[in-house]
Amino acid sequence: MTTSSPLTDLIHLRSAGVSVVIDASGSTLPRIVHWGADIGDLSPATLRSVVDATIQPEVSNTTDDLLQLSLIPENSRSWTGTPGLSGHRDGADFSPAFATTSRDFAVGADGSQTLRFTAHDADAALELHLTLELTAQGLLRSQANVRNDGEGVYTLDGLLIAFPVPNKATDLLDLTGRHLRERSPQRHPFTLGTYSRENRRGRTGADATLLLIAGAANFGFRSGQVWGVHTAWSGNHRTLAERIPLGNAMLAGGELLLSGEVRLAQGETYTSPWLFGSFGDGLDELSGRFHDYLRARPQHPVYPRRVVGNTWEATYFDHDLERLTALATAAAAGGVERFVLDDGWFLGRRDDHAGLGDWYVDAAVWPEGLGPLADAVRGLGMDFGLWFEPEMVNPDSDLARAHPEWILQTGKRMPPLSRHQQVLDLAHQGAYDYILERLDSLIKEYGVAYVKWDHNRDLIDAGHSPRGQAGVSKQTRAVYRLIDELKGRNSGLEIESCASGGGRVDLEILSRTDRIWASDCVDAHERQLIQRWTGLLVPPELVGAHVGSPVNHSTGRSLTLDFRAATAFFGDMGVEWNLTTATEKEQARFAQWVSAYKSSRDLLHSGRVVRVDSPDPTVWINGVVAHDASRAIFSVAIMGTSEIAPHGRVRLAGLNPDLTYSVRPLPPGDLDWLPERTLVPWWHNGLEIPGSVLHDVGIQLPDLPPESAVILELVAVPAT
Ligand code: DGJ
Repeated sequence: MTTSSPLTDLIHLRSAGVSVVIDASGSTLPRIVHWGADIGDLSPATLRSVVDATIQPEVSNTTDDLLQLSLIPENSRSWTGTPGLSGHRDGADFSPAFATTSRDFAVGADGSQTLRFTAHDADAALELHLTLELTAQGLLRSQANVRNDGEGVYTLDGLLIAFPVPNKATDLLDLTGRHLRERSPQRHPFTLGTYSRENRRGRTGADATLLLIAGAANFGFRSGQVWGVHTAWSGNHRTLAERIPLGNAMLAGGELLLSGEVRLAQGETYTSPWLFGSFGDGLDELSGRFHDYLRARPQHPVYPRRVVGNTWEATYFDHDLERLTALATAAAAGGVERFVLDDGWFLGRRDDHAGLGDWYVDAAVWPEGLGPLADAVRGLGMDFGLWFEPEMVNPDSDLARAHPEWILQTGKRMPPLSRHQQVLDLAHQGAYDYILERLDSLIKEYGVAYVKWDHNRDLIDAGHSPRGQAGVSKQTRAVYRLIDELKGRNSGLEIESCASGGGRVDLEILSRTDRIWASDCVDAHERQLIQRWTGLLVPPELVGAHVGSPVNHSTGRSLTLDFRAATAFFGDMGVEWNLTTATEKEQARFAQWVSAYKSSRDLLHSGRVVRVDSPDPTVWINGVVAHDASRAIFSVAIMGTSEIAPHGRVRLAGLNPDLTYSVRPLPPGDLDWLPERTLVPWWHNGLEIPGSVLHDVGIQLPDLPPESAVILELVAVPAT
């Protein structure tokens, strides 16, 4: 049910501990006066005072008009930072001055509160629609679209949305990374000027920031006010933090448009990505809003999440029915519930030089098609999943030979190859129809329940044939359409978003997919970092986390099965190791881990994620606490050696200080191989201890070796 209500000039939205005060007075675009902690139920007069209290005085050498930092910042309103809308009509109409002509308000059945504004610039002949929503979970999100109402083409160079942040936000945190090392944090002061994270890879990018966060000095996971934005887009995009000398600061984001990419004919509209904003007291609270929001979506994937067995690092391109059936059998014995056949099954695909685009089962390796394997997998009680890379084509393929014009290119030359492949122009109707038909037929023919959707190269020189107009924007939208159409045709189909590992992790792709592959690196040491920071946006049940081989294929590091499994335990767990080569002991231990995970996943996939700020940088503590704090599971991972031995007491956060908890190591994460002398007195029988003590005093753990982790299970007990 949606209700409309009349609007006042000053609007106060409140939800889940967050307030947003919007000044929509006058005809200029609305501006956010306060976004942050809930300031309570205010009378109209008090709200007026809140707004009055924030108006800046005039200072020397500025315009006589007061600066207005609106949601779409305008140079015409004295904003000298980055403008929200940039573009021109044959060189003119470059500086819009929008006047709001209508607005309305609705409350959704899910509790979201939505404001919609329409604004015009009659001189520039542009109409703007702006949506601003406070979700039930306290996330702020906004989207805009602009229509060209004038004669001739309006070339749009960018449409950014901005959320202001207060001057107490003095530090910035953003993420970067690369293939095999996605989402590494970096921190710096929020100085005057523009700090812009731009992505021109044509996919979200392993180095994309995921979130750009401004916060009070020394903010951490559990303390310090923080404001973060996420640009929900899987193509080129821009997210920036900007502070100007008048004291105003903002976080902004939007699609990064290539030259000439969006040329609006009269009557045409461009729609921006959603910009999401989250506020929190500490990063965990900011992060929890994203998790709650994702979990509240009607399309959130079904529970319980199935344990995945993926063939990639087990067999690579070495496909053969007998070998893969044996692998499926070992996987099922280990407790795997979904078996995914990765790259290598289609025409000509014996390695990564050829075949992409030829989406027909290769009879040379699969003489009877994939049916026998798919049937065997189902016979073992598992789902059958299949790998595709729908947006790609190898020049050495029948498809490229037949349709070179379907390859994204500048028109005069081909882009450089990357992994021997090019990108298929899905904005080309012929290419789109072909890919849709191939995927849809194969999904139906083999009863595919799960698609691993890969994307293994950046979009370079990506233009539409034959003229070579920049094509990333249309390609990104075509991919969204394709996924939507496939899902519409195949009810219940789940899709994993993969792009050379974790290169496509964003809320727009997640609105139509069911899991992200966090990284091609399944080395548990690296994964501790990758999963911790990916988890800032994405809840554990959507983050693919696999147990790899004893010697990792990307780093060469040897890690114990316990450390590998304890790390995968905190994501959407799976395995990517040739279990047929594992010893009986390893197979049994793996099965034990999967079984422990299955018994815990109701909590792991629904509770609040907690990361503890540890004084010892080698001790990483993270956990999941039930919303009523009655249960929790924590992992304490030792990431390296330390000057201190044993490691000091470990504090556990996010619990109810007034409840007493029984604390026990959870087998097989109980380090049953540690020598008795290194254990602590409570190890075998557990502890009963108040939440306040766990938080303020902490508990001493055994002296753990580097690259090991203990799993602790906490259950609230009646106080004695
Ligand atoms: C990159 C992915 O991230 C891997 O997991 C695997 O699917 C390969 N591509 C297959 O080519």
